[in-house]
Amino acid sequence: MSRIALVPAAGGGSRMGAGRPKQYLELAGRPLLAHTLARLLAEPRLDRIVLVLAADDGWFDTFAWPEDRRLAVLRVGGPSRAESVRNGLAVLAADAGDWVLVHDAARCCLPAAALARLIDTLDDDEVGGLLAVPVADTLKRADGGLRVAATVARDGLWQAQTPQMFRAGLLARALGGELDAGVTDEASAVERLGLSPRLVEGDTMNLKVTWPHDLPLARAILAAERG
Ligand code: CTP
Ligand code: MG
Repeated sequence: MSRIALVPAAGGGSRMGAGRPKQYLELAGRPLLAHTLARLLAEPRLDRIVLVLAADDGWFDTFAWPEDRRLAVLRVGGPSRAESVRNGLAVLAADAGDWVLVHDAARCCLPAAALARLIDTLDDDEVGGLLAVPVADTLKRADGGLRVAATVARDGLWQAQTPQMFRAGLLARALGGELDAGVTDEASAVERLGLSPRLVEGDTMNLKVTWPHDLPLARAILAAERG
């Protein structure tokens, strides 16, 4: 049984609007994606780290990347995140019982302790699960416009993060069906099979760099870690 990190990195970064995919933006002297890979490579229990790039990615080869025999690159990205993961899974030659930890390339600040906690908690789990954090803000449901229709109780609500860790066989089955807009992460696909993924406490530092204002936040997190 091995543990494989699968890193979808085939997105275009439209919300960032930076003129290049956000995974290739510079953060503290190296591309954002290099930080993501370094965090995964630092966990010795991961046997392989498999990157899924867009087939027409012209950026990856313009940078230097860690020389590590655990790292592999597949150029099989699809039009959606779910399809990129499905395509990567189809070609990475995992055994059905292998753990696959799907981790967004855009989550470049993943704390080592959160990754370790995910593996520690789920290694014997029947289903698998994901990092997540309890919702902190008060939630409002809108009336269809900009008026509040209701306040939604936040008890029991969690924000999903990545990595999301499932057995390769289960994940392939879950992602093998129709991938409509409701499949926004691996866990939602697994839930459709009637299974209940386990929530493992993540970390608010594990942000997904999405908008331009996320860049200074990510830089601050990386700088604070370096002390
Ligand atoms: N991703 C992917 N294939 C896609 C779309 C997204 O591999 N077709 C990856 C992204 O590269 C990212 C992760 O999935 O690491 C999370 O997606 P998101 O934050 O939405 O990134 P983008 O799709 O690139 O950004 P945007 O939605 O703003 O265009
Ligand atoms: Mg996207």
